[in-house]
Amino acid sequence: MAQTGELDIDFVRGEFPALASGWAFFENAGGSQVARPVIERMRRFASQMRVQPGYPYGVSAQAADELAEGQKALAAMINAQPDEIVIGPSTTLNVYVLSHALVPLFAKGDEVIVTNLDHEANNGAWRRLAEFGLTVREWRIDAKTGELEIDALDSLLSGRTRLVAVTHCSNITGSVNDVAAIGRKVHDVGALLCIDGVSFAPHSLPDVKALDADFYLFSLYKLFGPHLAVLYAKREHLLGVKGQNHFFIPEDDLARKLKLGGAQFEASGAVIGIAEYFDALDAHHFERPENDRRARLERVYGLTLGHEARLSARFLAFVASRPEIHLIGRNDAGDGTRAPTFSFTVEGRRSAAFPPLLSHQKIGISSGNFYAYRYVEALGLEPEDGVVRVSLVHYNSLAEVDRLIAALEAAIDRPS
Ligand SMILES: Cc1ncc(COP(=O)(O)O)c(C=O)c1O
Repeated sequence: MAQTGELDIDFVRGEFPALASGWAFFENAGGSQVARPVIERMRRFASQMRVQPGYPYGVSAQAADELAEGQKALAAMINAQPDEIVIGPSTTLNVYVLSHALVPLFAKGDEVIVTNLDHEANNGAWRRLAEFGLTVREWRIDAKTGELEIDALDSLLSGRTRLVAVTHCSNITGSVNDVAAIGRKVHDVGALLCIDGVSFAPHSLPDVKALDADFYLFSLYKLFGPHLAVLYAKREHLLGVKGQNHFFIPEDDLARKLKLGGAQFEASGAVIGIAEYFDALDAHHFERPENDRRARLERVYGLTLGHEARLSARFLAFVASRPEIHLIGRNDAGDGTRAPTFSFTVEGRRSAAFPPLLSHQKIGISSGNFYAYRYVEALGLEPEDGVVRVSLVHYNSLAEVDRLIAALEAAIDRPS
């Protein structure tokens, strides 16, 4: 198909078998649907290659090659080298392992900075370093904007700061933090930057080198893939941290030192399916072949970003038309500076009331704190009830957004 500059949404939706169910999925920041090539890869791996990979016999060697292929594709995706990537079961566990691997490099009285915006995954594990004598400082959201203001970081950074943990994009507001600028400040005092890219990567393409990230994390089950997660670490840091694996795994075994036990092999074997999905989008939308994977992804993400901006604009126009809706965060569709994740409360109503009302119409949304517990609390909301969250990705259609709007209108107008 010739380049039109717009995403062919019918083609996209055809790549997600779950969308044929009639459900409109708007809880994508919690977990996205799985792309067809990922499902096919998983089935193939489970039925043909379910062996311990890496031993010197045919199928085992082939299994190892396919896992390596997935690793290579992920690395190219974020502009890293394959040996700078650790695939683990979840971002939460990856951060936990990383934090323990860093402990021997820190001294009593050293400081880590965490935020009260972040999901708990890039939060609690660092705060727990207090048990090892570290001082934990909290970079708090601005009471007026509800966002992290970069100037506030200045008063927290010092020669004692060893690490700053911050999210690239809030899983509540969708706002993107300027992690490149944050990184410059962090590096100026000689500290490390650990970025949670979980809510960013499904919408925009991270470039860990351009960001000069020390550590960057994202979860593949929110990126149309299997339930796994990625920890990127600069090679020098992977070499320098204390291995957390068995005593006989050498410190220079970058692939295994932070990878405890075998990864789920059939899921790992499906990682390459994520790249194949994006390649299918590329081949469908662009006539000119592009050999470089990252360049292909950049042009495909350009299309998906444009589509998401159109969905966002429609949803935000609805939000602006209903004074009972209190949106958390900015009411603009953004130009890559926000993800299509919208959280709000409704005047006089409990957030938990809304998902069941929409469920009757096969519309999936959710409510709560989404593990950004501290943020929801800082907003003055009751963390258990929290916010209503609507999170879109590029496979959502304008027709689905219209269904969502109609259903929300009815739910809001319904007497409580
Ligand atoms: C922003 C953000 N960070 C981290 C996580 C945790 O990811 P995982 O479930 O892979 O531990 C989530 C999950 O919802 C998230 O939204």
